[in-house]
This record gives sequence, C-alpha cells and structure tokens, in this order.
Amino acid sequence: MRYRVAILGALLLASIAAGRAQDTGDKMAVPGDYREWVFLTSSLDLNYTTAAAPGHHMLDNVFVDPQAYKAFLKTGTWPDKTILIKENRMAESAGTLSKAGQFQTGVMNLEIHVKDEARFAGKWAFFVSPDGKQPGTLMPQSANCYSCHSDHGAVDTTFVQFYPTLMGIAKDKATLSASYLKESAPK
Ligand code: HEC
Repeated sequence: MRYRVAILGALLLASIAAGRAQDTGDKMAVPGDYREWVFLTSSLDLNYTTAAAPGHHMLDNVFVDPQAYKAFLKTGTWPDKTILIKENRMAESAGTLSKAGQFQTGVMNLEIHVKDEARFAGKWAFFVSPDGKQPGTLMPQSANCYSCHSDHGAVDTTFVQFYPTLMGIAKDKATLSASYLKESAPK
C-alpha cells in the first residue's frame, strides 16, 4: 500500500515537472482554453510568415486572455503576463451554397505572443506551434517577428491598429507607439 502511494506520488511529481517544463526554456504549451478567450479580429490573407499556397486563401483569428483584455480596457496597454494567440486557418469555398466567399477550415499553425518581463529580456517573446496542439517553440530574437512587431505594431509591439474594439481605447489613453504615430501621420 505504502509502496503504491510512493509510486503515485512520484508519478504526480513527474507530471507536474513535465507540465512546468513545457513553459520554460524554449517551449510553451498551447493554452487549452484559448478559444474561450476574448476575440480580437479575423483577417483574410494578412500573413507574413506562413504563406498559403498559390490560389489558396488563409484566415486568422486573434484571441487574448480575458485578464489582459480587461486591463487593456482600463489602461490602453498590456499588463505583464499577457498572452495573445493568432490561429491561422486554411480558407475554402468548396461545398457551400454561396457562389462566392470563403470559410475557415483546419488550423495551419498557431502563433503565440507572450509578455513576461522577468523571463524575456525584451519583455515579449513569440512561440509557434506547428499544428495548434504541440507546444510552441520560442522564436529567436533574430526572427523577423520581433522587428516587424516592434517597428509597426500600434501598441507595445502588438497590432492594435487591426483590433477594432481596442484601437479607440489606445487613442483615448494615448498609448500608441512613437513609431506607429510617425508611420501613420499624413505625409
Ligand atoms: C511583416 C510584419 C510581420 C511579421 C514579420 C510578423 N507579424 Fe505577427 N502580425 C502582423 C500583423 C499585421 C498582425 C495583426 C493582423 C493580423 O494578422 O490579424 C500580426 C499579429 C500577430 C499576433 C497577434 C498578436 C499581436 O501581437 O498583435 C501574433 C501572436 C503574431 N502576429 C505572431 C507572429 C510571429 C510568431 C511571427 C514570426 C514567426 C510574426 N508574427 C511575424 C505582422 C507581422
């Protein structure tokens, strides 16, 4: 009996350690409930990294964790521990009653943008899960994710200019980044 308890204890500890290990180093588990988070936008063919094959379209869905969303409504910017997820899906037109238009099908991959000031030197980091289920792999600082987001994202390296429920708040709270203001100023 004691022996069994010891084995169960050891298994429990090992599984806790494995769970933690997923969120350290260069891996991050895909949050299981992200589809119940706050929906920010869906964009058609706005993609810079995983191009769809010629003649194929892609749609994405962006979600943010509810605590970060609530904080943004108050402050116009993201708190520490914010997680944003961009789920990239294939678009398809076959099999609908409609003569035009596209609907979403399978997940192509999933991109995660996390703010963790203690963990990442640049405060934020990107992870990519190849199928939306496997843990995301940390993108190196040299990846173009970082430069495009920091040069062109409207608020704190995120693309708030494409999130219609948030852009007005960022304007009201004057949290738009200097590079975005410069880029969007009338020429
Ligand atoms: C050339 C510019 C560019 C590059 C490079 C880029 N992105 Fe983005 N990203 C965008 C734009 C624009 C959006 C917002 C619009 C959309 O696609 O829905 C976005 C949105 C996101 C979001 C949603 C949260 C946010 O920050 O606004 C994530 C997550 C994301 N990108 C991950 C990545 C990852 C991972 C990489 C690198 C593998 C990457 N991006 C490279 C332009 C870029």
